[in-house]
Amino acid sequence: MDLHQLRERIAQIESEVAASLTKAGSGDAVRGLDNRVLGKEGSLSALITSIKEYPPDQRGQVGKLVNEAKARVKASFEARLAELRAADAQAEASAAGAFDATLPGVAAPMGAVHPVTAVQWEVERLFERLGFTLEAGPEMESEYNNFEALNIPASHPARDMQDTFWLTNGMVLRTHTSPVQHRSMKKFGPPLRVIAPGRCFRYETIDASHENTFHQIEGLLIDRDIGLPHLIALAKMLLTEVMQREVELRVRPGYFPFVEPGLEIDMNCRICGGKGCPTCKNSGWVEVLPAGMVHPNVLRAGSIDPDEWSGFAFGLGLTRLAMMKYGIRDIRVLNSGDLRATVSPVRLGGPIVWEKSA
Ligand code: PHE
Repeated sequence: MDLHQLRERIAQIESEVAASLTKAGSGDAVRGLDNRVLGKEGSLSALITSIKEYPPDQRGQVGKLVNEAKARVKASFEARLAELRAADAQAEASAAGAFDATLPGVAAPMGAVHPVTAVQWEVERLFERLGFTLEAGPEMESEYNNFEALNIPASHPARDMQDTFWLTNGMVLRTHTSPVQHRSMKKFGPPLRVIAPGRCFRYETIDASHENTFHQIEGLLIDRDIGLPHLIALAKMLLTEVMQREVELRVRPGYFPFVEPGLEIDMNCRICGGKGCPTCKNSGWVEVLPAGMVHPNVLRAGSIDPDEWSGFAFGLGLTRLAMMKYGIRDIRVLNSGDLRATVSPVRLGGPIVWEKSA
């Protein structure tokens, strides 16, 4: 046999071993096979005994080839024995009814979701059902989008309603999600239905109910013959669904330059049950939904004809709503590392995947 034939012989033995191994259904069968291949008279061992027949300069090579093959075959015997042992153990255990290794494993814990995110997902899901589009908008906004386009000119006292972070490049950190109203009108034109969740910023002194960073969800619906009843019905549906209880609403006039008429839609405080507490400023009511009919100037700025179209907008205070829903008394914990208020994403069903708008 020359070296070439030796290699072929080894390959042949190995493939025979592999075929017999899959058929070997017991430890004894594997050990019998082991003896026939690696034992004293075994087929691979026999190749080593023939080493003297090779020229001296080839003997090292022969030894190496055969020994490597032996190691591979030995490893395959061991693997098969381990397999058989595991199968035995499983059969034994399931006969005893103790453990079913065929059941799917327990899912690893997935972490948790911030309460604001949890409420955001719920609101998004509701509006997806109602055919709304999801828009984002940037956190750094132009002065025009944040104010002018919303009927708040530079000289207007309403600028003072929102303490604004001005950036050195002349832009602002958006003080509300309302600039997305203007962006959406420009982007889609009428009719349109959009919600825009996002982070907003105000230069506030931080206390139990004020933060410099908070979340809102803007809503905007523009169509023909839209009126306040549509808005109030939607508000009731939205708050009832998020709070998972019948909520009482209080509707008051409110002033925002970009709506006319403007409303404050409040819900009864769930922290104190309406008796009065610091969270509701002792009134029993919490302002969660400022809203109103879109001002004609805002429609015009968005290239929409106010004689043909009307609509409503709202700015849901997502942070405050999350506090109500989960009974969080102090807004400051929401931007802290306290994990006690987090919510299981498994229970929430995870975020929805929105279809990308054009
Ligand atoms: N953008 C307003 C605010 O943050 C809320 C609002 C939105 C009011 C839409 C009316 C309509 O104060």
